[in-house]
Amino acid sequence: MIIEVKTNQRNYPIIIERGAICKAAEIVYGEPGTDTAVSGTAKSGTADTGAVGSGFTNSGTAGFDGTKRGIIEPGSKAFIVTDSGIPDKWKEALQRQFPSSPMFIFEQGEASKNISTYKEILSWLASNRASRKDTVIALGGGVTGDMAGFAAATYMRGISYINIPTTSLSQIDSSIGGKTAIDLDGLKNIVGAFWQPSAVIIDTDTLSTLPARQLAAGLAEAVKSGLIGDAGLFEIFEEMEALAFMQPTAQADTLASRLDGIIYRSLMVKKAIVEQDENEASLRKLLNLGHTYGHAYESYYAGRYLHGECVAMGMMTIIQDEEIRTRLGKVLKMLDLPISCDADKGRIAELVMSDKKAVGNHIEIAQVDEIGKAHLETWSIGKLRDMLETVQQ
Ligand SMILES: NC(=O)c1ccc[n+]([C@@H]2O[C@H](COP(=O)([O-])OP(=O)(O)OC[C@H]3O[C@@H](n4cnc5c(N)ncnc54)[C@H](O)[C@@H]3O)[C@@H](O)[C@H]2O)c1
Repeated sequence: MIIEVKTNQRNYPIIIERGAICKAAEIVYGEPGTDTAVSGTAKSGTADTGAVGSGFTNSGTAGFDGTKRGIIEPGSKAFIVTDSGIPDKWKEALQRQFPSSPMFIFEQGEASKNISTYKEILSWLASNRASRKDTVIALGGGVTGDMAGFAAATYMRGISYINIPTTSLSQIDSSIGGKTAIDLDGLKNIVGAFWQPSAVIIDTDTLSTLPARQLAAGLAEAVKSGLIGDAGLFEIFEEMEALAFMQPTAQADTLASRLDGIIYRSLMVKKAIVEQDENEASLRKLLNLGHTYGHAYESYYAGRYLHGECVAMGMMTIIQDEEIRTRLGKVLKMLDLPISCDADKGRIAELVMSDKKAVGNHIEIAQVDEIGKAHLETWSIGKLRDMLETVQQ
């Protein structure tokens, strides 16, 4: 499956294909299993077909958006950025195809998404003589994508960047939209840039090594996408919930077999929104459903819950329609995501009030009208605080 994303900065393909990581070089350069392309021998798309590398024709699609360019320029050298938690099998799968590419491995975890790792990546690019026509490949979750993407956005005023996300969260959420960032002085994503990738390669096989809790947390964002823009996507989760009588392994197999479709549909929801509102002026805020409380829970629990788990609780707090909350609660439970918590309401209210998205005493929040349809509402901070009293956290 290929999604064509069109933005003002650049258009790019998102390739969703099991096993795609083993074809990354082919997808990028049009030459299988080697980075000889790095020395300048790669074929870019031909004038006849407009094809962008044989990876696309392999995927049953002849080219992307009619351009005659390759995904990256012939002769562009790849610089791989990854973290210490990515299993060797995925690193090796990539390194085999890009044998002369340097690989930068940083310590896994959000704590590394900081200015010193960012600086190390820039120094590593510079010392390896990365040029303006070279490319950064990010292999990893949202932390890797955000940091490698930001380094690519700023090195030599911006070089090409290809994202190979390997967590459910990064495949579903951070693989589209062009947000890149690092944290600073305890403030999350406070330094960053909108920098669209040249391509995104999503291989759901990589999720086979992801811990189940991480997998489920990322799926909270897919549930959110269903709620705001695709009732059919939400119903996929409800169908799985109806299979709750199955053995856990059978349930996991059912989920695995549906992952490509779930990711594709989630990205289509986000694509429709970000293409209309690239810089988050308005519509894009719909994607923040559940995030106002979610971020507050995340700060409050300081690492006890994963981002997606906090979004799950945040959606349960903000959604007002009882029937929708009941349906959502069942789906989240099926995914082993938390739907209530023991947070101190007063402290959550304080954290909500200091949300960086608040303007004066107000904040725009997403609200679900019916499953698959949402709108934005401006709420006073007081209303958000009062909500905490009326809902069971
Ligand atoms: N740019 C955006 O639009 C956007 C959107 C949402 C979130 N984010 C950012 O994403 C980050 C969170 O991303 P995340 O949840 O992917 O966390 P992460 O990148 O820290 O990955 C989680 C853990 O899983 C490990 N891992 C990754 N892939 C694996 C695999 N296939 N098998 C086994 N282990 C694997 C990593 O080493 C890490 O320890 C946050 O910093 C958040 O701000 C960015």
